[in-house]
Amino acid sequence: MNTNYKRNLVTCALPYANGPIHIGHLAGVYVPADIYVRYLRMRGRETLFVCGSDEHGVPITIKARKEGCTPQDIVDKYHGIIKNSFADFGIKFDIYSRTSSKIHYKTASEFFKKLYDEGKFVERESEQYYDEEAKCFLADRYIVGTCSKCGAEGAYGDQCEKCGSTLSPDELIDPHSAISGAKPVKKMTKHWYLPLDEYEPWLKEWILEGHKEWKSNVYGQCKSWLDGGLQPRAVSRDLDWGVPVPVEGAEGKVLYVWFDAPIGYISNTIELLPDEWEKWWKSKETKLVHFIGKDNIVFHCIVFPSMLKAYGDGYILPDNVPANEFLNLEGEKISTSQNWAVWLHEYLEDFPGQQDVLRYALCANAPETKDNDFTWKEFQTRNNSELVAIFGNFVNRAVVLTHKYFNGEVPANAKPEQIDTETLSQIPDIRKAIEDNLENYKFREALKEAMNLARLGNKYLADTEPWKVGQSDLERTASILNVSLQICANLTIAFAPFLPFSVEKLNHILNVAVLDSALAWDELGKDGILPVGHKLNKAELLFAKIEDAQVEAQIAKLNATKVANEAAAAEKAAQEEPVIAPAKAECTFDEFQAMDIRTATVLEAERVPKTDKLLKLTIDTGLDTRTIVSGIAEYYTPEEMVGKQICILANLQPRKIRGIESKGMILMAQQEDGKMRIVSPEEKLINGACIG
Ligand code: MF3
Ligand code: ZN
Repeated sequence: MNTNYKRNLVTCALPYANGPIHIGHLAGVYVPADIYVRYLRMRGRETLFVCGSDEHGVPITIKARKEGCTPQDIVDKYHGIIKNSFADFGIKFDIYSRTSSKIHYKTASEFFKKLYDEGKFVERESEQYYDEEAKCFLADRYIVGTCSKCGAEGAYGDQCEKCGSTLSPDELIDPHSAISGAKPVKKMTKHWYLPLDEYEPWLKEWILEGHKEWKSNVYGQCKSWLDGGLQPRAVSRDLDWGVPVPVEGAEGKVLYVWFDAPIGYISNTIELLPDEWEKWWKSKETKLVHFIGKDNIVFHCIVFPSMLKAYGDGYILPDNVPANEFLNLEGEKISTSQNWAVWLHEYLEDFPGQQDVLRYALCANAPETKDNDFTWKEFQTRNNSELVAIFGNFVNRAVVLTHKYFNGEVPANAKPEQIDTETLSQIPDIRKAIEDNLENYKFREALKEAMNLARLGNKYLADTEPWKVGQSDLERTASILNVSLQICANLTIAFAPFLPFSVEKLNHILNVAVLDSALAWDELGKDGILPVGHKLNKAELLFAKIEDAQVEAQIAKLNATKVANEAAAAEKAAQEEPVIAPAKAECTFDEFQAMDIRTATVLEAERVPKTDKLLKLTIDTGLDTRTIVSGIAEYYTPEEMVGKQICILANLQPRKIRGIESKGMILMAQQEDGKMRIVSPEEKLINGACIG
C-alpha cells in the first residue's frame, strides 16, 4: 500500500438514469462516500468527489419504448430527479454529470479507439438475431414469440413472463421483432472482446496478493471470480443507444454500457477540470477509491482495472473499493418494479428538513458486512432515543443553562474538579477511534464513536447536575457549563462528516460558523475551543421527536403497496392456469425403493472454473464425504450453500462433469418463475437419514 498519497479521488457508482433514488442507494454507496469525503476535506486533504448518471444500456431503451418517448427523454427526466435528490441530502459532489454528455462520448470513444488500434481487443463473429425491416440487430428482450415451455404468447427472447422460464430466442415459437413485427433472421455480427483471461495472472497478483486489506466481501468475490477463471468479455453491442463504436465497419454498434460507464468517472473529471484532470487520474500520488454496491464489484475490481491496465499511459488503479452489501426494507428486498422502496423525494415530503435523521439511521445500520434491514421502527428509535434523547438533549441543556445563568456567554472554568479533566481527557481517544474507523471505511463504528462523545456529555451533565448547583455555587456552575460547551463544540466537529445539516444548526447556536472550515478537525479534542466570554446564539432544538403516528403512516403506505401487489399478482394468477409439469408414468414400489434418497449437509462449495452454472459441493452424507457437481450456481452463491442441509439421490451412477467426478444428485424443485430451489428438511435432521 502506498502511504505517500497527496490527494484523494473518490467516486460513487453512477446510478442508472431510469428511476429515482431510494434508501438502498443512499445507505450502500452515497452516504458513506459523502461522509468519507467530508472527513477528508476537514482534515485538509485535497479531495475530488465525482459522480454522474449512467445513461446507456438496454433497460433505458425499453423504458423509452414503453412510454412512447426517446431514451434521451427518459434520461433527461431521471438525471434531473437524481441530481436533486443528492443535493437535497447533502451529498456534495464536485461534479454530477452524465454519460450522454459530449465530453463523455469523446472520452469513451478515444479510450476504445486506442485499445482497438493497439490490438488490445479480440474480434469475434457470432450469429445474432436481426430485423431486416427495421435493419437492426435485436437484443433478446426485443424478440417476442410463443413460449415453447408453456405455450403463452408474447414471451420475450430472454424470459417468459407467464411461466417465468428463462428462455433464449431460439426457444420461442414463431419469433418476431418487437420493433417491426418482422421475423428475425440470424445474421453474423462482429463484436470486440476484452480478453480478461490475459489479465488474470496480473489481477491475481494485484488483488489477491496486493490487496488483502480490502473488505472481505470484496476480496472474496474477486477471489471467487479469479479462481473460477476469467473469459473474454464483449465490449460492444448492436444497439442504437450509446456511444458508437468508433471504428470502420461498426455501423449500428455501440460500446457496451459497462465499458462506457466507468469511463464516465474520467470524462466527468475532464469536464470539471479540463486542464488538471490528469493529476487526478495519472499520478501515483492520487488515492483512488470507488464506493459501490456489491453487484458492481466485478466491474470495478476486475473489468475496469483491466481496461485501465490495457490502456496504460499512467492511469492509476483503485487503492480500495469499499463495496457494501444490500439494504432490505421491512424484511424484504427493495424492488423498484414492486415499488417496495423508500424514495428520497417522498421521504422529504413526509419528513421535511429531516435529512440528517435518514443519514444517521442509514449509516448506523449500514449494510457494511452483510445485508441489513431498514425498519421504520428502528428509524424512529434511532431518532428518538439517540439523536433527540442524547445528542439534542445534551446540547440543549448546556445552551439553555448558559443563557439562564450567564447571559449566553461562555463562563470561565473557575472551579474545576477532577470529573472535568477526566471527562475532557476522553475526547482525544474518541477522536482517534473516529479517525481509525473512517480511514478504514468502517462508517457504522465511526458514527457510534461520535455518538459516544454525545453520551459522554450527557453523562457528565447527569453526574454534575448544574441545574441543582445553580446559584448556590455559581463558580462551580460556570465550570460545569464551560466543560459542557467545550463538548458541544467538539460535537460539531465530530459529527460534521455525518450530519451536515444538524451541525450547521449547532454551529449557528454556538455561534462558531468558523468551525465548519477545513482543518477544523484538528481542533477536535483540544482545550478550550470556545473562549471565555464567547457569546452564544439562542437555543434551538437540533432534532424533533418522531411520533408513532408518523411511522405508522409509513408502514401503512408499505402495507398498501403490498396489498396492491398481491392483488395484481392474484389477478394475474387467476387469468392463468399454474403451469404444473404433467404427471409421469407409473412406477413400481421396487423402483421407488431402489432410489437411495437421503439427507446431507454441504460442507464446502465453490464455483466450477470457467462455468456460470456449476457449483462443486463437498457434502457429508452420513455415509461418507463426497463431491457433487450441481447446476445451481444461477440460484445460489457458494456462501449460501455452505452449511445448508439438503436431500440427495445418493446412488445415482457417478458422472464426470467438467473433469470432476460427481456422485449423486441434489433434489431441487422448479418454481413458477422457472427458478430452481433446493429442498431442505424443515428441521435439522441427522445426515444420512433415509427419505422414503
Ligand atoms: N449504473 C450502474 C448501477 O447502477 C453503476 C455504474 S458504475 C460505473 O449498477 F462505474 F460504471 F459507472
Ligand atoms: Zn412460458
